[in-house]
Amino acid sequence: MLKQVFRLLMAAVFVSIPYAAAAAEKAARVVDPVKAWDLHFKTWAVVSIFVYLSVTVPLIYFVFKYRSKRKDADGEYIDGNVGLEILWTIVPMIIIILLGVQSWAVFNDLREVPKDHIEVKAVGFMFGFEMYTPEGIMTLNEMRVPVGNVKVNLTSKDVIHDFAIPSFRTREDMVPGENTYLWFSAKEPGEYPVYCAEFCGSGHSSMLAKVIVMKKEDYEAWVKSKQAESTNMAAATPAVKGKELVEKLGCLGCHGIAGETKAGPALNGVIGKSEELEDGTKVVIDEAFVKEKISDPKAKPVKGFGHMMPPNMLAKEEYEAIAAYIKTIK
Ligand code: CUA
Repeated sequence: MLKQVFRLLMAAVFVSIPYAAAAAEKAARVVDPVKAWDLHFKTWAVVSIFVYLSVTVPLIYFVFKYRSKRKDADGEYIDGNVGLEILWTIVPMIIIILLGVQSWAVFNDLREVPKDHIEVKAVGFMFGFEMYTPEGIMTLNEMRVPVGNVKVNLTSKDVIHDFAIPSFRTREDMVPGENTYLWFSAKEPGEYPVYCAEFCGSGHSSMLAKVIVMKKEDYEAWVKSKQAESTNMAAATPAVKGKELVEKLGCLGCHGIAGETKAGPALNGVIGKSEELEDGTKVVIDEAFVKEKISDPKAKPVKGFGHMMPPNMLAKEEYEAIAAYIKTIK
């Protein structure tokens, strides 16, 4: 008997292998990860609901049908059912093989970058994303790409982050000291949200970014304007560079420049001002203090403000440029 069951099982496996291989190969040729992923999800959902119902519905039915009616009654002794046992071994086995094969095919889809693609880079840090276009243009928390297939090379400056773009059904860890990648197919111009999907510290929830998909002509025009801007920037004064940095780094989300207090203090007139720190010491804010605030905001917290500001690793000239800019706004 056991031998027969075993033979049947083996037959089932061998019958499914060619089918499975063909299905996998076909799925791997479909270069639309969004569709492949959605089909994958729906298949698993349908199978899960089917399995769940096929267990719980009979269970509830039997609980009522075979409940004990007399206190001293003994249950009937049932010594197995070969037909049923074969059925409930083979059916789940086939389901699992098919799901396994489908998962494998989808995985291949999501890992195999189509030949025609552009390559960009995203670097995670606490707490944001630096994006680099193929031309080397850096943007913060904003990835601009033309319509088409995009391979994104990923890494991190500090801890593990995860670059997740739900609209394109893809995500991948950003690991310090390692290079990982993902790819997506940008079909329609528009804005698609990006999230950090790996808990990475107190600012994790603020690691929001977007992919901006542009028409090819629009993208090229944007690249040209950015390149022109950086040529102008190279010749600009430190204060002008500092203004650009303050805007680009998102400082103005928490700091006003016209005396208003937001999550952080206003930046205008702050140099030369005396402030009280959390530990009670009084300081007069100078350029060195501004620089330290930007790189290590938690070192000298100012009384009355929380500890929300993320650290920023900038080049020496960049700190100086920001301090120079802050000096100019009264
Ligand atoms: Cu970065 Cu969570």
